[in-house]
Amino acid sequence: MRERDYDVVVVGAGIAGLMAAYKLAPLRVAVLCKRPLGTGAATDWAQGGIAAALGGDDSPELHAQDTRIAGAGLSDESIAEILANDAPARIEELLELGAAFDRTADGALALGREAAHQRRRIVKAGGDATGHEILRTLIAAVASSDHIDVIADTIVEDLLVDGERRVAGVVVRSRDLGERFMVRAPATVLATGGVGRLFRATTNPVDASGDGIAMAARAGAMLADMEFVQFHPTALAIGRDPMPLVTEAIRGEGALLVNDLGERFMTAIHDDAELAPRDVVARAIFEQERAGRSVGLDARDAIGESFPERFPTVFAFCTSAGIDPRTARIPVAPAAHYHMGGVAVDEWGRSSLRGLWVCGEASATGVHGANRLASNSLLEAMVYASRAADDIRGAALEPTGPTPLPIPPHDSSPRLAQAVLDLRNVMYADVGLLRDARGLQNALARIATLSSEFPNALGELRNLLVVAHAIASAALAREESRGSHFRLDFPRSLEAFAKRSFTKMESHA
Ligand code: SIN
Repeated sequence: MRERDYDVVVVGAGIAGLMAAYKLAPLRVAVLCKRPLGTGAATDWAQGGIAAALGGDDSPELHAQDTRIAGAGLSDESIAEILANDAPARIEELLELGAAFDRTADGALALGREAAHQRRRIVKAGGDATGHEILRTLIAAVASSDHIDVIADTIVEDLLVDGERRVAGVVVRSRDLGERFMVRAPATVLATGGVGRLFRATTNPVDASGDGIAMAARAGAMLADMEFVQFHPTALAIGRDPMPLVTEAIRGEGALLVNDLGERFMTAIHDDAELAPRDVVARAIFEQERAGRSVGLDARDAIGESFPERFPTVFAFCTSAGIDPRTARIPVAPAAHYHMGGVAVDEWGRSSLRGLWVCGEASATGVHGANRLASNSLLEAMVYASRAADDIRGAALEPTGPTPLPIPPHDSSPRLAQAVLDLRNVMYADVGLLRDARGLQNALARIATLSSEFPNALGELRNLLVVAHAIASAALAREESRGSHFRLDFPRSLEAFAKRSFTKMESHA
């Protein structure tokens, strides 16, 4: 088997992976990604912006406070402070790298306001194309960096672990499932993104299949906050999978949610109506669906003719489905959008395994608690990827020992695709917006059946099953409702559960 050696291997090429790789200079870094650089990462699709306390009336303290309030009692105070304090410097850094953020007529950064932020502090690009601009900027930075090799079209199968239980790189296959080879390094950074693929309805790209979390769990890493999955209230319901996002900023501009009877149902549910916390709005729309109603977002009065200039990405999605948001309601439905849980890490992105750092959505820093504040995800990825890079650069990287090769998955049965579909349906129905013990037990039973039917699944099912089990069992154990986790059988928050959850895969418990 071929072997390649680096100082650091970074898995994933979204904002977290590329930021970490860029800042690891002068260490020699391999960046592994499933598809050609610039395609397939959730960053590219991020319509919301980056929150940073840049306004004269704002402060990192206020930003940290909003972050903690959104986190429903579980957001880690010191991690939230680091996030808010580091935000302005990370924006400055992107500007220096050439990011073209939206500006006001007098040339200052235009700061938008989103739900649950006390101040205008959202930095955006192209109206609703912030992620795309950041990715463009970071790809350009990586391309001009001699210390980085990008190894694209590569599927990472597993972590390599040496005799001293140190992570020592990864074993990978080329995308056509041909060549299998090792990329060895004394430091490994997982930046593999989220888990949206687990759910029938999601705004995430297909590659968001929890690979990093599953690999780390198999190697014995501690996971945290796995039960907390954020559903975005307004994904475009036009029968596409994944579902295009209809950014919250449109509601921020005054667009209204109405059902097919023309009723504006949010006013009866929350004082902030359409701008209530994301989980409240998502559940309200889901309840409408359960009652046989469909829901539309009406932006005709609030935005009207200026829709194409202000929200070009959403406008293009709508018109591709024959919908003109200047004259018609936009059909919307909730969809899995962001996972607050992941591999447990400290304030430097260090996991519980030596040699393994994790950043971005695959990590659980504790900053988001039970619910993430809008526009804190790109920020968290940048802040903690930078800190992980600083930590690795300062670490004494010892050469890795010999690493036994994990047994390769090999089952390529044509039934795998149907099994993925079954899993996604059961996760959406029973581990989605409204949960109860019966549904969660049903999901866990289905996960167990699929795991025993396909113990060596080649491809996404193997990782999806690990992550599905961790999410469903954490959701079953949390017998309360908090933030994004809502239990029909335990509809209130309970003091006894006012703490984060930590778990290891059974074979390592
Ligand atoms: C949105 O634009 O509605 C999503 C932003 C985010 O997830 O932070």
